[in-house]
Amino acid sequence: MYNGLLHLHSLLRWVIIVLGFIAIYRSYSGMTGHKPFTSQDRKIGLFLMISAHITLLVGLYQWALGPAGLQNILNLGFGEVMKDPVYRFYAVEHTTGMIIAIVLITLGKGVARKDITDGAKHKKSFWFFLVAMVLILVSIPWPFRVGIGRPWFPGMH
Ligand code: HEM
Repeated sequence: MYNGLLHLHSLLRWVIIVLGFIAIYRSYSGMTGHKPFTSQDRKIGLFLMISAHITLLVGLYQWALGPAGLQNILNLGFGEVMKDPVYRFYAVEHTTGMIIAIVLITLGKGVARKDITDGAKHKKSFWFFLVAMVLILVSIPWPFRVGIGRPWFPGMH
């Protein structure tokens, strides 16, 4: 079951990246082209938030019970985990970066419900989603990242 959830966690990154780029593109073109904020814009934000929240739940489970998070801190002590770049990445950096990004996605999605102009909605969502996507892209253990690299797709080696 742990492996299945890790695969889901890994695969959902692509859903988040695709929806994130669509959301950034739509809010940017809405902002610069003075377009109305449509139900389509709201839905993209909603699906982005849902996939981010599922990834968060699986991630919390992996962090709490998997080998790379809390278990390492309990076994080695926080100081030792912080000294090792691989342990530190999964126990602290990946987790913190992603949680901040998911909070930003949630705030970006919430913009749709605000009583502000459509232009302001596009502008605010653009910034929330842009910063969230940058954080996500730098916090993913891409295969080319030395030491921490993991596969592009679940099950690949
Ligand atoms: C947008 C959010 C996130 C994305 C895109 C993401 C992406 C990933 C990816 C691609 C992996 C490597 C999977 C593999 O080995 O095939 C991973 C591992 C991991 N993630 Fe995330 N993650 C996110 C959020 C989180 C959060 C919020 C937490 C913790 C609360 C978390 C905890 C972990 C842990 C502990 C691992 C290592 C699990 C293990 O090796 O047993 N992730 N994540």
